[in-house]
Amino acid sequence: MIIHSASFIQCSASLKQCPDPVKPEFGFIGRSNVGKSSLINMLTGFSHLAKTSGNPGKTRTINHFLINESWFLVDLPGYGYARVSKETQRTWGTMVETYLRKRSSLKAVVVILDIRREPNQGDLDLLAWLKGYGRRPIVVLTKADKLSRNQSRQRAAEIRARLEPVCATGAVLFSAKTREGREEIWKAIREATEVDSLPGRRP
Ligand code: GTP
Ligand code: MG
Repeated sequence: MIIHSASFIQCSASLKQCPDPVKPEFGFIGRSNVGKSSLINMLTGFSHLAKTSGNPGKTRTINHFLINESWFLVDLPGYGYARVSKETQRTWGTMVETYLRKRSSLKAVVVILDIRREPNQGDLDLLAWLKGYGRRPIVVLTKADKLSRNQSRQRAAEIRARLEPVCATGAVLFSAKTREGREEIWKAIREATEVDSLPGRRP
C-alpha cells in the first residue's frame, strides 16, 4: 500500500459535524488505550498522524484523516474508559453508535482488541451492534509483540472462540512495534471494499 499523503482534517463531536460523506472511509474502534491511534500511524507510515498516549481516553471525538486526497481513516474514541463520568460515557456511546449505524460512506470497521486480554462485554456489544447493522468487522489483535509466537497463536484461537457468537470472521495479529500484520490489514481493508481509488490499485 503506497501512502503519499495523510493529513488530519477535523474532529467531530457528532455524526452531523462529520465531513460530507462523499469519500469512502474506514473506522478504527476498540477499548480505551488498546492502540487504535498507534495502529493508524503504523498503517499509514505517518508516525505522528494520530495522537497516542499512555493515558486512556486520549481520543474523544470522531477524527478524520484524509489519505492520498481521496479517502478517510477515522479514529474513534475508545469505549469502557472508567475514569470519565457515566454521562460522558453515554454521550460517547451514542455518538459512536450513531456514526456506526448511519454513516453512509463507512466501508469497513476495524475492531481492535488487546491480544493479552479477554474480550469484555463492551467488545462483544460492539461486535453485536455491527452484526445488527450489517457491517462486517475486520478484527485486529494488537500488541502481539508482548507475547511469544506460540502464546499469540494460542490467544488468537481463544479469542476467536469467544467472539464466535457475534463475529464469524477471522482475526489479524498485529503489532505497532514490529509492524507484524500491517499488510494483512491493508488486504482486509481492500477486500472489504470495492473502492477503485484506494492506493496500491493501479488503473
Ligand atoms: P485512546 O485514544 O486513549 O482510547 O487510546 P488508543 O486506543 O488510541 O491507544 P494509543 O494508540 O494511544 O496507544 C496506547 C498505548 O499503547 C501507548 O502507550 C502505545 O505506545 C501502546 N501501544 C499501542 N500499540 C502497541 C503495540 O502494538 N505494541 C506495544 N507494545 N504497545 C502498543
Ligand atoms: Mg486514540
